[in-house]
Amino acid sequence: MLYKTLITILIFTPVILSHIKHAPRDGKLTFTGLALKYGKVAEEYDVTTKDGYILKIYRIPGDKTKPLLLMHGILTTSDDFIIRGNDSLAVTLSNAGYDVWLGNYRGNRYSRRHITMDPDKNATFWKFGPHEHGYYDLATTIDLVLNNTGEDRLSLIGYSEGTMITYVLGAERPEYNDKIKVFIALAPICHINKMIEALPFVAKLGYDMIRFLKLFKIEELFGFDSLSGIMTRNMCSQSVGLQMCRRILLLVSGYDPDGLVKEFMPLLFEHYPAGTSMTNVEHFMQILTSKRFAKFDYGPVKNFEKYGSKIAPDYNLNKITMNIYLIAGRNDRLSVLADSRLQAKELPNVKEYFVIEKKFNHIDFLWSRQSRQVLYPKVLDILDKYR
Ligand SMILES: *[C@@H]1O[C@H](CO)[C@@H](O)[C@H](O)[C@H]1NC(C)=O
Ligand SMILES: *[C@@H]1O[C@H](CO)[C@@H](O)[C@H](O)[C@H]1NC(C)=O
Ligand SMILES: *[C@@H]1O[C@H](CO)[C@@H](O)[C@H](O)[C@H]1NC(C)=O
Repeated sequence: MLYKTLITILIFTPVILSHIKHAPRDGKLTFTGLALKYGKVAEEYDVTTKDGYILKIYRIPGDKTKPLLLMHGILTTSDDFIIRGNDSLAVTLSNAGYDVWLGNYRGNRYSRRHITMDPDKNATFWKFGPHEHGYYDLATTIDLVLNNTGEDRLSLIGYSEGTMITYVLGAERPEYNDKIKVFIALAPICHINKMIEALPFVAKLGYDMIRFLKLFKIEELFGFDSLSGIMTRNMCSQSVGLQMCRRILLLVSGYDPDGLVKEFMPLLFEHYPAGTSMTNVEHFMQILTSKRFAKFDYGPVKNFEKYGSKIAPDYNLNKITMNIYLIAGRNDRLSVLADSRLQAKELPNVKEYFVIEKKFNHIDFLWSRQSRQVLYPKVLDILDKYR
């Protein structure tokens, strides 16, 4: 689309010209390549959801009786869990013997495919958010893992939006609760009531962005191979741009400059962002504004058609019966403690609510240099209880 391209160029021209000649290197590796780099041989699977989306699932094979699934957050991919190499969660869990599977939801760089729709031509392809990620993508991914391992149940670790989609699944398809031995929710997100107090500009920015994107009928956000995705990554992985992107990242996720290893930053920004839908962000904004963990609000008429009520209904948290361990960071500005505490109270089967002290922020769960000390031992401990 010409106008989309023009708009993107207008926004990013000042920064691309000096950078575009440096093509990112690490960013060219897929999960399999990254795994090899860190001494692991990965397998890849394509699986089709009931509504026709083709997802790419990765696996670092291990003990088949210990299947473990990792679900990533918004705008990212399975790669989040391995780009820290030997210090990453995926490698740590694999070294501990687990059969590590990694999901990729519809719409990111790996799962931008459908049996009939073309993501570049069919706007309908992009009508998805946490609801579809949970109801279809996570359900299908769990079935794939269980089919391939011959196990009845797996352990699940979700990060950020990966926790929200697990709540959607547990509430909407309660039979899946029995397929999950234990769910470890990292930087958990369900209600988003207090985030706005930590980040007052978020709502305004979000709404402005949605209005702008709607105006130009833009459905995909920061697609990995789209102009905006490539430019953002080029800008953020070098020199001045890198410093700026690092600041923004720390501002949004919580200030912990020591968590991120300096040398790691360029590499990080070769992989991030990797694409999602506008609808995904819009649903987040609705949950934030309404202070309700509710289904997507289509407006009264379509709501009535879809849900039988003019108001989009709440997800029924009481149906989420799986064993849950919540792990929150004291300094997390996206999953703030007030919100995760509320989850701990409202979810019916929370076994433990654990807070990582001091400066631990939203992104530290994935990339902090302290994870090896403050996070991984805890995760391994919990998993060990549910072998
Ligand atoms: C990662 O650990 C493996 C096994 O311990 C080692 O062989 C490899 O050199 C390490 N890689 C890096 C990049 O540190
Ligand atoms: C997708 O878009 C193409 C081209 O506009 C159109 O011919 C096709 O019918 C659309 N498919 C679906 C499933 O909407
Ligand atoms: C898992 O196996 C069942 C039964 O054979 C099959 O119906 C289903 O399609 C499989 N699902 C996946 C995602 O592989």
